[in-house]
Amino acid sequence: MSAVRIDVLTIFPGWFEGPLTTSLLGRAITDGVVDVRVHDLRDWTTDRHRSVDDAPYGGGAGMVMRADVWIDACEAVWNDLDAEVTRGRTVRGDDPPATETYTAGGSRPRTVLLTPRGRPLTQALATELAAEDRLVLLCGRYEGIDERVHELVATDEVSVGDYVLFGGEVAAAAVIETVTRLVPGVLGNQTSPAEESFTSGLLEYPHYTRPAEVRGHRVPEVLASGDHGAVARWRDQRSRELTRERRPDLLGDPEGA
Ligand code: 6GU
Repeated sequence: MSAVRIDVLTIFPGWFEGPLTTSLLGRAITDGVVDVRVHDLRDWTTDRHRSVDDAPYGGGAGMVMRADVWIDACEAVWNDLDAEVTRGRTVRGDDPPATETYTAGGSRPRTVLLTPRGRPLTQALATELAAEDRLVLLCGRYEGIDERVHELVATDEVSVGDYVLFGGEVAAAAVIETVTRLVPGVLGNQTSPAEESFTSGLLEYPHYTRPAEVRGHRVPEVLASGDHGAVARWRDQRSRELTRERRPDLLGDPEGA
């Protein structure tokens, strides 16, 4: 098993400190199952104010993230070059260093731009991403990113749902987590991914543990019966009922009729 390498580009690198050092994700990183490297996009700015955004062409409210900074940053990260080498290269139009193999608009590792207009993140997409040996995650902020980043830099655009976040950091953390737990050896004693929600296409059945009674609410009798067949049938039935009630779309019924 070779570790998946995930590079993250963000203007808030500190945001990832908690998520990447906590619980099972923190453990997976310490164990070297995934190799996550967080980079500050501002390392590739060239002006005194380290600006990553500017006013939109055509006018309107808000700011747009600059394509030149994103392109320089991504080419550096793709090719393992330091910011000192690549900063401001797009602007100057210098020749790329001889070590460079990946270029904007050319061959490049799987580069996921987190954006509400992207392809919805599903367990199927996570499985696809987990098969890569490298992923580069781009966290946008502000009103948007210059369209040339979408065209020249991103290989994929991914959304984590039909709602709007301030930026892509939460979405990138979701990608990192779902991809990491699909790497063999991360789940340990837990259920294998093949048995859980969304992989089976159904929501999970309800779980119970001791005590047997809480505030007058008892554990369903069948679960304590010792009849493994009956337990399996109960769980399957509850799983189907829950899915039909709450997520009929998972059963191929978009309207929930
Ligand atoms: Cl990836 N980014 C932002 N800003 N908002 C989102 C999203 C991403 N996915 C859903 N909403």
